[in-house]
Amino acid sequence: MEKKQRPADILLLKERLLEKLPAIPKVVQEAWKLIEKGNVSPSVIGEVIGRDMTLSAKVLRLVNSPFYGFPNRIGSLKHAIVLLGLDTIKGLLISTVVFGKVTQEIKELWAHACDCATTAGIIARVLNIKEADELTVSGLLHDMGKVVIKNYFPELDAKIQKVKRRNNCTDREAEKEVLGVSHDDINGWMAEKWHFPATLKEGLIYHHQVKKAIKYPIFAAVISLADILSHIYRLKFGQCLPIVEDEVCHILKLNPKIITKIISEMDKSLYTFDWDEI
Ligand SMILES: [Fe+2]
Ligand SMILES: [Fe+2]
Repeated sequence: MEKKQRPADILLLKERLLEKLPAIPKVVQEAWKLIEKGNVSPSVIGEVIGRDMTLSAKVLRLVNSPFYGFPNRIGSLKHAIVLLGLDTIKGLLISTVVFGKVTQEIKELWAHACDCATTAGIIARVLNIKEADELTVSGLLHDMGKVVIKNYFPELDAKIQKVKRRNNCTDREAEKEVLGVSHDDINGWMAEKWHFPATLKEGLIYHHQVKKAIKYPIFAAVISLADILSHIYRLKFGQCLPIVEDEVCHILKLNPKIITKIISEMDKSLYTFDWDEI
């Protein structure tokens, strides 16, 4: 019989993980500080980001991707910032840090993040939720805890994958068995360290436990639904999926007509943006 995995020491894991998080580029740090201070103009933030050519190109490429569906091409950072708002730009900058280079190991997670980002935006538009842009960023980052485990703790990731196959369970259940925590808990550690806005945090931390989202349940509900629909859309044989919580149906007032509309929009829009194309 296979030996049962002892969960890693959670505090130690947290310390090691936060230590290993990629260094935030100077330009991003500076832009964050200015955003957090408040009362800063889009041109000032645009100037700061514009000092890093690769970063500027990534932000512009993402803004012009079908995630956002803007009808005209956005050519300047200032315009992007005006359209998306500072919190969303902060989230976009973070996504460049979290995903960095999309290696073979995280390609699948990146594709799922893109699906979830697009779907979160679609749900927001179908349901007339005004924070569609922020929800798109939240969708992009919703499984960032998995990305850091894969990138920085490959030995733990290998154990998680093994438990998943052995128990035919969800990622989250396997993570709990191996780590003692799951990627949504890890999202919370990262969100805390990087001072994410409360709305963004809600989707990252509670997308698997919407009933625990107290402050902005609608954010958690949209990301939860976007996550599950993205998985169902590309369902693989034998894959074990989380189920849609009753709270999600209740908070978003879902009905078959709304779900059909969301799925038909997903048919037209699901798109994987390639960081490395630029
Ligand atoms: Fe997740
Ligand atoms: Fe996910």
